[in-house]
Amino acid sequence: MPAHRGCRLFFHASAWVAYALISVAAAGAGNRIIPEFSISLDDARQMTATLPAELRVGIMARPDKFLRLMAQVLDQPPYLFVLVDKLHALSPDYVPPDLVALKDYPVRTSWPHLMLRKAIIPAVLEMVGAAKKEGVIITFSSTYRSYDYQQGVYDREVKMYGKEIADRESAHPGLSQHQLGTAIDFGTISDGYEKTREGAWVAAHAWQYGFTLSYPAAYEQVTGYRYESWHYRYLTRPGALMQRQFFGDVQQYFLEFLNQHRPALEQMRTGKN
Ligand code: DAL
Ligand code: ZN
Repeated sequence: MPAHRGCRLFFHASAWVAYALISVAAAGAGNRIIPEFSISLDDARQMTATLPAELRVGIMARPDKFLRLMAQVLDQPPYLFVLVDKLHALSPDYVPPDLVALKDYPVRTSWPHLMLRKAIIPAVLEMVGAAKKEGVIITFSSTYRSYDYQQGVYDREVKMYGKEIADRESAHPGLSQHQLGTAIDFGTISDGYEKTREGAWVAAHAWQYGFTLSYPAAYEQVTGYRYESWHYRYLTRPGALMQRQFFGDVQQYFLEFLNQHRPALEQMRTGKN
């Protein structure tokens, strides 16, 4: 075979292979909602199938925006999103590795012993500073609680109000977000908190710094606890946005979804290994 003919054949063959490869890639990419995940509309439909209808409809109306924000959430440390509720416990010996004393920072506390995870201190200081600029002083009243401390809190509630009332507002040891070192009770820790100037500021602005309400009004059936206007958990800024924009501002819905689908979402994330 003349050399130039072999060359031409080679050119045809490689052009065909290149064309085939591009076609396959294009077909795959075509099914994707956004390039960052190998997730099709069908996948997204399946993933959201068990969510309440209004949330499912909201996500499927803007699946690209949802996945873009999800990518940002997945970039945050996973330990900030661990699901802790009446069905998901922490081990009795779990202690966050980076606890620091709040008394070492310029924040107002109700007690000298309060601690939080060091990783969330920048967000704490940012929020406290922003509130202060508007003349609002935020008070930290209960933060990290060990398993044993929570046992004491729960036992005291039972003694004072009986088990039925205690179970609506106090977690059993191992089941409290406070053991994570990223949950905070603000101000008075009472129903009047939302009506104080501080409570109103926190309700309006805490999400901008990554803090979201854990037990909203009228969701006791979902969260397991009655409304607690004073109890917030740090979920990062993308997490707080996700909760507000796609989960009806109900933290439980968001964290349950993430807990269930994180492995699949991480597996279907492209270009991140
Ligand atoms: N008050 C919340 C539910 C707790 O005890 O963690
Ligand atoms: Zn609390």
